[in-house]
Amino acid sequence: MAEPQAQQVTYNFSGKNVLLVGGTTGIGRATALAFARAGANLYVAGLGAQHGKSLGDEVKAVGKTEYAFLEVDVRKADAMEALHEKAFARFGRIDIAFNNAGMSSRAAPVQDVSEADFYQLIDVNLKGIFLGMKFQVPHMIAKGGGAIVNTSSLFGVMGYATTAVYCASKWGVIGLTNSVALEVAKKNIRVNAIAPGSVMTPLLTDMFGSPQSARDTVLPVIPMGRISDPSEIAQLVLFLSSDAASFITGQAVVIDGGGFVAGADQL
Ligand SMILES: NC(=O)c1ccc[n+]([C@@H]2O[C@H](COP(=O)([O-])OP(=O)(O)OC[C@H]3O[C@@H](n4cnc5c(N)ncnc54)[C@H](O)[C@@H]3O)[C@@H](O)[C@H]2O)c1
Repeated sequence: MAEPQAQQVTYNFSGKNVLLVGGTTGIGRATALAFARAGANLYVAGLGAQHGKSLGDEVKAVGKTEYAFLEVDVRKADAMEALHEKAFARFGRIDIAFNNAGMSSRAAPVQDVSEADFYQLIDVNLKGIFLGMKFQVPHMIAKGGGAIVNTSSLFGVMGYATTAVYCASKWGVIGLTNSVALEVAKKNIRVNAIAPGSVMTPLLTDMFGSPQSARDTVLPVIPMGRISDPSEIAQLVLFLSSDAASFITGQAVVIDGGGFVAGADQL
């Protein structure tokens, strides 16, 4: 399996303040580290105080940036409001928000999905992003602009048997993203989504049961022949958050090693 190419792009986010919701592990953690290397100050939220602390140690090792962590469950509106108040108070201004918290569930046909599982996936993957933007947008309007990136999925632009509710939550993220992008298009705020294919994180292994089972299931349908590294997804988030993407809004950018264009009949 080929390794990701060494990075050729250097971003400069010095003086920028980034709020990462769902930043403790996987894609969010890799993105936090990439932003820190690029000089940004970080306010990270997510589950797992231990992860939050160890990420803080890693961030301090890579740069001289500010770092704060708060354990927050994105399903809880009060906790999300408190998170945003704390982040705004700490930095004065949040320039970039990455709404990335998400979960999968074990693959199963729709008749085997419980109502409780349905609501849990929708609450974390969709309501969590709604709550994030609900608090971020007025702040960014008041401060004169900003950039928001939301995490959808390749499963937000296609269907996949045995993950119907996960797919529905991720299609919803793109609907939210497109609509809010239009609401703030004249306010100097850009809102985009990322739609990753398979990324080797705890979420992928939870979905398919084990790392080996994840590989066996997804590798045959990835034209580039490998599962991506979270650091590759982080680069897309930095690009969409940066001035290099100054005219891009309302988009869901697929990053999947060619899986989508290969077509659903490959699956
Ligand atoms: N790994 C993949 O193949 C893949 C593909 C497409 C999209 N995604 C999406 O990427 C995002 C990050 O996932 P990952 O793959 O890095 O997995 P991960 O499990 O490593 O990360 C999930 C993050 O979300 C946070 N989170 C989960 N539930 C939460 C809750 N209730 N409240 C607050 N935070 C919560 C976790 O603390 C963690 O920071 C998710 O939205 C996921 O759906 C992942």
